[in-house]
Amino acid sequence: MKFIISLIAFFLFTTSYVEAKSETVLTRDSSALVENQVTLDTAKQNAKRSMRSPAELFKSCARCHSIGRGKLIGPDLAGVSARHSGEWLIKFIQASDSLIASGDTAAKRLYEENEKLPMPRHDYSNDEAKSLIDYIFFETRKLEADPNFLDNDFSFAHPSNTWPFIIGVLFILFGIIDWAFLKLIRFKFIHIILILAGLAISGKAVTEEAIYMGRSQGFEPDQPIKFSHRIHAGDNEIDCQYCHTGSMESRNSSIPPASLCLNCHNVIRNGPNTGEVEINKIHEAFESGVPIEWVRVHSLPDYVFFSHAQHVNVGKVECKECHGEVEKMGRIQQVSDLSMGWCIDCHRTQKVQFDNEYYLSYKQHEDILSGKISEVTVEEIGGLNCQKCHY
Ligand code: HEC
Ligand code: HEC
Ligand code: HEC
Ligand code: HEC
Ligand code: HEC
Ligand code: HEC
Repeated sequence: MKFIISLIAFFLFTTSYVEAKSETVLTRDSSALVENQVTLDTAKQNAKRSMRSPAELFKSCARCHSIGRGKLIGPDLAGVSARHSGEWLIKFIQASDSLIASGDTAAKRLYEENEKLPMPRHDYSNDEAKSLIDYIFFETRKLEADPNFLDNDFSFAHPSNTWPFIIGVLFILFGIIDWAFLKLIRFKFIHIILILAGLAISGKAVTEEAIYMGRSQGFEPDQPIKFSHRIHAGDNEIDCQYCHTGSMESRNSSIPPASLCLNCHNVIRNGPNTGEVEINKIHEAFESGVPIEWVRVHSLPDYVFFSHAQHVNVGKVECKECHGEVEKMGRIQQVSDLSMGWCIDCHRTQKVQFDNEYYLSYKQHEDILSGKISEVTVEEIGGLNCQKCHY
């Protein structure tokens, strides 16, 4: 019996001990849990807060500010990033009164200029304030975006011959009809002059059209992505060869693949005129692996041999001598007519840059060194030989 009682006592003791033990474990754990819960909640809250879109955040500013629609209670915020540093803006948005109190001259001046109306404090984190400033920047950009940013203010397209042709035909018709029926003009030789002049004018129009046929000088097609050379090679001074890597080594000046665009556009996700729309197309092309289908602008017939490396690398001819001021072009435009006469004219006059190791084997090289001759044109090294350009 004693044994049974002591067994029960032992059992009770151990269970209560274990219970007590587990309780302390539990209380400790639960306090830790509560702590965890608190940090989790603030983290969640923070995450939730940082998920507030800048457009949402701006709603509380919109009572007093517009972007590009003039002053309300506070100044128009269009272009505000250009007026202050990012750091200043963050401080001002969070607590403009402290900034004014600290004696900041820009803040004080603004305050004075706005009838000493205080701008309320905003309890936004630095990241939120930053996203808001970006938002204002891009909204300003939308106002400044130019839908015609690809247009060029020059055209190398030859003038149309439609009107000269019609006028010539009218001269001929009038000459014949008056001669035969109307008889308004008394002298036959005037009819003959009219008809001959008409033939000359319309004939010239037709031959010019025939010559230009198949040539595409001034050709300026729309491209699948609104790519602007003015923005890249002009404003941002990116070197032609950075993108057209082939021009030094090969026949073709290659068109860059999407992956090369992404060297920059992984970071630059917003364009001044097209926002995200056009730049997103580069990402789509890269992710899907379907190459961008650029429309070819320059194109020589198959029976002509032309090499970029020969001209750019060996001949030291600059891109602009053949392609014009590409850095000023929105849409790329064909500037030269790419006719045989165009190639020949240049070869007749262009001097060969003999300070180039490529020419060491040429006989003219010695003559130049010895001072026998002072210059050599491309023609003189065979630049007019039919088989150099034709297979
Ligand atoms: C109750 C009205 C009010 C609200 C709301 C308000 N502001 Fe202002 N804000 C002002 C006033 C007034 C000024 C002029 C400065 C001053 O008086 O202190 C100003 C000035 C500014 C400036 C400086 C403008 C300049 O031209 O240099 C910025 C930037 C600015 N506010 C951003 C914000 C942002 C962002 C919000 C929303 C988070 C916001 N404001 C909300 C009233 C307001
Ligand atoms: C950021 C990259 C980039 C830079 C820099 C660049 N290009 Fe281009 N270029 C392209 C792309 C992409 C195309 C094809 C799309 C188009 O035609 O607009 C192209 C097309 C061209 C074409 C027409 C090709 C055809 O189809 O006949 C010429 C000519 C050209 N570039 C010359 C130049 C010259 C000259 C420079 C330097 C002043 C230059 N590019 C700088 C990317 C670039
Ligand atoms: C060396 C850097 C660089 C490379 C490479 C580059 N870009 Fe850009 N691109 C820029 C810059 C800088 C801007 C202007 C961004 C700005 O002003 O905010 C820009 C703007 C743009 C825009 C926006 C135009 C607008 O006005 O909205 C498009 C579209 C674009 N690039 C397409 C391309 C394509 C296609 C390629 C590849 C053929 C390319 N870029 C390669 C630097 C680059
Ligand atoms: C001597 C004249 C000349 C010079 C200099 C020249 N190009 Fe070209 N380029 C042409 C001709 C001609 C074509 C058409 C080639 C064809 O259809 O085979 C062309 C075509 C192109 C093309 C379309 C792709 C191709 O190769 O067919 C690009 C891109 C191009 N050039 C870029 C450049 C760049 C960049 C430079 C300077 C580094 C340059 N070019 C210098 C005459 C020239
Ligand atoms: C702006 C001047 C210029 C234009 C335009 C030009 N070339 Fe040239 N070309 C040169 C120069 C300079 C050289 C000399 C480089 C060298 O030694 O190969 C050259 C050399 C050549 C050569 C090699 C000649 C040789 O003797 O080795 C060929 C082929 C050629 N050009 C074809 C063409 C064709 C085809 C066109 C027209 C579609 C053309 N070029 C337009 C300047 C020009
Ligand atoms: C410097 C390069 C060059 C040389 C040298 C050259 N050609 Fe051409 N040739 C061209 C080019 C470029 C075209 C294409 C013109 C076009 O598409 O309008 C062409 C076109 C032609 C055509 C077709 C004409 C047409 O209008 O369809 C003939 C035929 C021709 N060449 C014959 C010759 C003969 C013969 C010689 C030697 C006396 C010669 N070429 C030398 C560059 C050259």
